[in-house]
Amino acid sequence: MKIPASLSTAFGDDFQATLLAFALENELLPDEGALASERFLTRSVIPHVERLSTLFNRIEPGTEGTKIRARKSEDKPGLDPYWKESSNPENFRLAYFLAFMPSNAARAAAVVGELSRLGFRYPAGMKAFRGIEWGAGPASGAVGIAAGVRHADIGVPREGNWALIEQDRAVLSLGEKWATKFFESQDLGWSVRPFHRKVDWTKPLLPASAPSFHLWLSSFFLNEAEIPLDALAARIVDNWEHHLEDEGLAVLIEPALRVQSRRLLEFRKHLLVEFAKPKRKGKYRILLPCLGHQACGALATEGDWCHEEITWWRPKYFRKIDELAGLDRKTLPFSYLVVAKSKRSREELLPALGSAKTDRLVSPAHSEGRDLEFFVCGEEGKRRARYRPESDDEAKEIERGSIFLDAEIRGDARAGRVDLRKGVI
Ligand SMILES: C[S@@+](CC[C@H](N)C(=O)[O-])C[C@H]1O[C@@H](n2cnc3c(N)ncnc32)[C@H](O)[C@@H]1O
Repeated sequence: MKIPASLSTAFGDDFQATLLAFALENELLPDEGALASERFLTRSVIPHVERLSTLFNRIEPGTEGTKIRARKSEDKPGLDPYWKESSNPENFRLAYFLAFMPSNAARAAAVVGELSRLGFRYPAGMKAFRGIEWGAGPASGAVGIAAGVRHADIGVPREGNWALIEQDRAVLSLGEKWATKFFESQDLGWSVRPFHRKVDWTKPLLPASAPSFHLWLSSFFLNEAEIPLDALAARIVDNWEHHLEDEGLAVLIEPALRVQSRRLLEFRKHLLVEFAKPKRKGKYRILLPCLGHQACGALATEGDWCHEEITWWRPKYFRKIDELAGLDRKTLPFSYLVVAKSKRSREELLPALGSAKTDRLVSPAHSEGRDLEFFVCGEEGKRRARYRPESDDEAKEIERGSIFLDAEIRGDARAGRVDLRKGVI
């Protein structure tokens, strides 16, 4: 995924300084040197990071530096309420905060970057922004959106409010304080309202009196929902009818692993069924990553899935945690979906694409002689294709997430050849 250079460094030194000041103010760390102390990290943080990694099944077999074996793909996608399972819940929360919050925030920020790159802007005239994060944990998603809008404009005003929904009281309180501190550090006048509740998927998610939101966000949350995906899609769209603003966005970020990613693709399929119902027709538009409502190219093949990836500058202490826990998170994979509640056309919503036919690279591009080979996905499905770049500079532009505009893809089933008409972005 292409993100602005300033965003790829947004979680570096300044972020670490803000996080350290916050952790000391809230007595999460014993002293200023704790983040650099191998002894402290090894004793108090790493065992929980390893446990969380196993729980979240972050590591797939074969991943470089793998220390922990992945759970098997047949395991149920939902996770138990893990916050209370630990013998030391405070350090367990701290480990999540230090070792998972920043990377999930960076993922959410990257989605803002992609929206901005393709020209998305909320309509002018929004005075106060309203966001809601579901299963907020320590507000990773909301914090990521704040970092995102600082570096990539999508027309969000500096005044606003976030509602955080979370089933665990202690982590919710941490999220409320952290988001407040981080928003201030970004010069955003956004306030935070915490709501301690367990989402019951069989009931309306919000009371009828609740407001509607410009941004409906969930990050690493939907895969914990234990409800069939068709019912989940119907439930969520029912709630968007009342609580997502016209011209609002839903941003759903999920793990990149095959099982959870495929679940998101299945969920997208059920959303499309919902969107086709007469009462909803023309009201919703799938924007990212697919740029349209075509049948999912990855879902068409058993065992295939779809994910994005960003490269980021990890905070220094985060690199240390990775080293001590045998992790290697220089790049961050994730699956995601962005839906707009809008009657506007794609051309109006994502003007950088114009009216072009679009094909997105959904794999890395590797060299085959003078060609680059990759998979593209678009209206005609997903297929292997090759392109011969005209220069090194053009070759650099072609990576996972790039979009070919009005490309003609001809050739045999093994690999099509891309004939570029309008370029690549
Ligand atoms: C994997 S964590 C993700 C936290 C955060 N969004 C992030 O990206 O780092 C999932 C969070 O969802 C919360 N959660 C799971 N099921 C929930 C439910 N039914 N109602 C409210 N919160 C829930 C968990 O307590 C946990 O904090």
